[in-house]
Amino acid sequence: MALSWALAVLSLLPLLEAQSPECANLTAAPITNATLDQLSGKWFYIASAFRYPEFNESSRTIQAAFFYFDINYTEDKILLREYLTIGNQCVYNSSYLNVQRENGSLSKHEFGKEQVGYLLLTKDPTTFMLAFSPKDEQNMGLSFYTDKPQATQEQMREFHEAIMCMGMQKSEIVYSDEKQDVCGPLEKEHQEEKQKENEGS
Ligand SMILES: *[C@@H]1O[C@H](CO)[C@@H](O)[C@H](O)[C@H]1NC(C)=O
Ligand SMILES: *[C@@H]1O[C@H](CO)[C@@H](O)[C@H](O)[C@H]1NC(C)=O
Ligand SMILES: *[C@@H]1O[C@H](CO)[C@@H](O)[C@H](O)[C@H]1NC(C)=O
Ligand SMILES: *[C@@H]1O[C@H](CO)[C@@H](O)[C@H](O)[C@H]1NC(C)=O
Ligand SMILES: *[C@@H]1O[C@H](CO)[C@@H](O)[C@H](O)[C@H]1NC(C)=O
Ligand SMILES: *[C@@H]1O[C@H](CO)[C@@H](O)[C@H](O)[C@H]1NC(C)=O
Repeated sequence: MALSWALAVLSLLPLLEAQSPECANLTAAPITNATLDQLSGKWFYIASAFRYPEFNESSRTIQAAFFYFDINYTEDKILLREYLTIGNQCVYNSSYLNVQRENGSLSKHEFGKEQVGYLLLTKDPTTFMLAFSPKDEQNMGLSFYTDKPQATQEQMREFHEAIMCMGMQKSEIVYSDEKQDVCGPLEKEHQEEKQKENEGS
């Protein structure tokens, strides 16, 4: 069971690249409660590269983004509250992601179908990546998140390495720019509302 799973995930990455040591570590692993603990909290969107047309387009409209993951461990769901800066305006949205523990993926209904992102973790617990359609050259994608608004050079290097492991080019990467973020005030408002609720209860 575990073995067939490992083979399935390994085969997600192009065979040639997967043989280099850097790429060998870059595989989705089953998601455990510990993984979910690590994902819980606030994250910043740093960069992505998408070939799937809708994702490619929408990623180019996002100037900056941060979000919160609230985990429901018993339902295997993640409440996603995202603050996107698009067209110099703050767009807030909340939705649920489904957690597929066995194959290490998170999914969400978007653009008319279930979009599946495979969770890729490195040694650095303050970052994570999501790989989309890794076997499909026409539609593959990779996105990169850190717990600070800016990534360090070393973190960026790991993302660039992962891009190459998937067989994509650095030139396909779109970067966010936290300086353009305009969602700070709305986040503060939400935090104050939450605090009031807690005091009221
Ligand atoms: C791969 O992961 C192992 C275990 O975490 C680590 O010891 C090794 O340095 C990693 N290799 C690379 C190339 O990152
Ligand atoms: C992604 O969008 C950019 C800008 O519109 C375009 O130049 C590029 O070809 C697109 N990439 C793919 C794989 O469609
Ligand atoms: C998880 O979801 C279930 C069902 O919707 C709900 O009863 C429970 O309170 C949730 N747990 C948390 C921690 O939100
Ligand atoms: C994961 O956490 C949930 C909720 O705390 C618990 O019900 C479940 O037994 C845990 N699973 C494992 C494998 O520890
Ligand atoms: C908010 O999320 C829902 C569910 O993913 C989506 O249908 C809706 O278009 C989103 N709204 C905005 C403004 O992004
Ligand atoms: C992982 O699970 C999701 C949801 O069930 C599914 O859509 C996807 O195809 C699975 N991936 C693999 C490689 O089995």
